Amino acid sequence: MFKLPRIFVYIAMIATVIAILPPLVIARARATPSPNRPIHIFWDMDFQPKYKTQTQNPLFADGRSMRPVVEHAVAQGEAYLDSHMYEGVLNGDWATTLPASMKMDAALLARGQERFGIYCSACHGYAGFGDGAVNQRAMELVANVNGPVNGTTWVAAKSLHDETVRTQSMGQVFNTITHGIRNMAGYGAQIPAADRWAIAAYVKALQLSQDAQASN
Ligand code: HEC
Repeated sequence: MFKLPRIFVYIAMIATVIAILPPLVIARARATPSPNRPIHIFWDMDFQPKYKTQTQNPLFADGRSMRPVVEHAVAQGEAYLDSHMYEGVLNGDWATTLPASMKMDAALLARGQERFGIYCSACHGYAGFGDGAVNQRAMELVANVNGPVNGTTWVAAKSLHDETVRTQSMGQVFNTITHGIRNMAGYGAQIPAADRWAIAAYVKALQLSQDAQASN
């Protein structure tokens, strides 16, 4: 039988070892942190002189590159000085009227109704009795015969026709929408102030609609 000369076997073995070296070197380099940037053929605008967050900057006395906001600075358009508009407070008490820049009319209530349908009805129900779809489903889970499903606990969404809510002024309802209350989350981050007022006005209208007296 033809026998391969030994020298070829040795050459093949050495070649194999040499062939594994580059991948090993690359793997090692990838796993080792280095202060130098990676080889970058096209720089474009990838590397620019700048101070990164949490680094030092010798330009300032305190050496911080992240500068604190200058005292009393206000981001443009974010002063929120109108306490009636943004807090629902007028002369130290909950406002009973809309802010001066808004007008109570059919368009405002229609807007409020639409926003209420989007943001509030899921829990409070379209008519505000606290019987929204989410509430009904949660009650179902809680009332399960074998105990609450997955340990569900639930605080029922309050009926907006409850005496304690019906007697609240528009500003207080606005405040509840903005910051939430007890187990209800706030919607100040999702709903712009003007829309929160529209919803508050609509809630007051809803309450009137369910509490009509022969005298009014
Ligand atoms: C995820 C469910 C949920 C949504 C959505 C929701 N609420 Fe509520 N709301 C609740 C619950 C629960 C309570 C009762 C909280 C408690 O008593 O701990 C409540 C309470 C209230 C109250 C009574 C506050 C008081 O003084 O007792 C008002 C008013 C109210 N919500 C208005 C709204 C309005 C307006 C919206 C829409 C912008 C809205 N809610 C959206 C769950 C919700």
